[in-house]
Amino acid sequence: MQTKLLPLVYIALAISLAGASCQSPVTSNMQAAADSIPGRKWWKEAIIYQLYPRSFKDSDGDGIGDLKGIISKLDYLKSLGIDAVWLNPIYASPNFDNGYDISDYYSISKQFGTMEDFDALLKGLHQRGIKLVMDVVVNHSSSENEWFRQSRSSRSNPYRDYYHWWNAERGKPTPRWSFFDVNSNAWKYDTPTNAYYLHYFAQQQPDLNWENQKLRQEIYKMMRFWLDKGVDGFRMDAFQFVSKDTSFPVFPPGYEKDIIRYYGAGPHLHDYIQEMDREVLSKYDIMTVAEGAGSSPADAMKFVDPSRHEFSMAYHFEGVGYGNYAPDYDLPGLKQVYSRWDSSFESKGWLSIFLGNHDQPRMVSHWANDTPPFRDMASKMLTTFIMTMRGTPYYYYGDELGMTNIRFDNIEDYRDIETINKYRHVKQLHGDLKQFLASRKISARDNGRTPFQWDSTAHAGFSTGTPWIKVNPNYKTVNEVSEEQDPTSVLNYFRQIVKLRKDHPVLVYGKYVLLDKDNPGIYAYTRELNGKKLLVLLNFKSKAATANTGIDLKKATLLLGNYVSPSKGETLQPYEAVIYQL
Ligand code: GLC
Repeated sequence: MQTKLLPLVYIALAISLAGASCQSPVTSNMQAAADSIPGRKWWKEAIIYQLYPRSFKDSDGDGIGDLKGIISKLDYLKSLGIDAVWLNPIYASPNFDNGYDISDYYSISKQFGTMEDFDALLKGLHQRGIKLVMDVVVNHSSSENEWFRQSRSSRSNPYRDYYHWWNAERGKPTPRWSFFDVNSNAWKYDTPTNAYYLHYFAQQQPDLNWENQKLRQEIYKMMRFWLDKGVDGFRMDAFQFVSKDTSFPVFPPGYEKDIIRYYGAGPHLHDYIQEMDREVLSKYDIMTVAEGAGSSPADAMKFVDPSRHEFSMAYHFEGVGYGNYAPDYDLPGLKQVYSRWDSSFESKGWLSIFLGNHDQPRMVSHWANDTPPFRDMASKMLTTFIMTMRGTPYYYYGDELGMTNIRFDNIEDYRDIETINKYRHVKQLHGDLKQFLASRKISARDNGRTPFQWDSTAHAGFSTGTPWIKVNPNYKTVNEVSEEQDPTSVLNYFRQIVKLRKDHPVLVYGKYVLLDKDNPGIYAYTRELNGKKLLVLLNFKSKAATANTGIDLKKATLLLGNYVSPSKGETLQPYEAVIYQL
């Protein structure tokens, strides 16, 4: 455990942070050192903070986070040193899937506020040098969207072809698997027109028909609306699924186990992205990232190879999908995944680096250890990984405090349609509900969606009302106010490493080389750029472990470590992280 003695690293940090507040997102240091780097882009150098608006800060006591709540915390966001905020959907929505079912793409959810609040938020972020990335959900809309109301009203309605319909006189549709449906069936029979509609996600999320040019133009118009307001980028939700072979061929048995292969490579996917680039994206200095990017680095490259004029960076799932949530996953295998992706993108294209998001459990619970003796160190170690890899870091709200899985015991505590419908599915099949609930404690998305822990007052200072989902009981110790006061907290370590990344372009652009690849406990790598070389050593285990890199650390300078007394050699303390300049 840490002592309260402040080592030089922390003192140096305090001084440098004090000076950092007046710097622009891309520091002058970064500019000077990176001038000779080809292909520089603001979004490669940015640190993106993913903010789940429902759970960040509630301003009106209804128990749901909102835009005014975020506005009240803009100075906190600024204090983190991040460059951009990615906001999960804030549009009008009946919220069957917490905003990923949009009923009006041009208005703000009443739960979150008004368009005036949005404009004020955007302005407040920009005044602080922080960009805003919006979530765009256009594989599907809400079933309450006016387009769908029209579409389902008659077979001859002009909006009929905005969605995928299968007329019942053709017989049962070709089976399609659904992510959220209780019966895993992606076709839903709709009485008014005696036809089935397609929904890869929940029944309340009908898939839009991208093969219809009119629909595509509607989407581009909507994207321009937000860009003309000044937003700085888009995260394209489930975008790899948009193009469908509308002859709906039969897929081989078991295809759902390899769903990305079948759903993620539609016949016109890349034509549509290129069209979107021509019509919209290329006209603005923005960043774009598609959620998911096929099933291999080669697939992903197609989305982001600059010569193809598609999206800015790839966000693949092989990293977070690795090991199937096993707590004792095999570290060498994980290293291989990240190393393979890095080398595939070495000469072109760009990756995102993340360990958590709103569809994942909390990173420290998933990838390291959230028990009290280890939580702090383990959180900082994982943060070190995210901030020292090549690619744009996506950092999920609350991870900067070391927030952990809530691990609900009862199905009644869950709010997420995915868990609730899966529970119903298991129940229908007379499956093992106990085992299901036990597994959800590890993997459920609600683990990562609990309210931000601001302080130790009621509801962690998130809301004066009853929060829409329970607050993690550890808020009395894990909260922003108490971490502000502790220079060695997870929060202050986050600020430190953000600053370090900004001061060292090698951490953004430098070549990554994996060392000691078979070491079962330590992840070791170097980053190198223009003669500058850093070494990162991360102990992923709860026991001391020794790296064998062949590098003489006696001549190396320690830049940052997560322990108050960092180890001197290659033997690291549990969950220790160190960064050296060689
Ligand atoms: C994406 C979102 C997820 C949502 C799904 C359907 O995977 O990240 O939260 O449930 O799409 O929109």
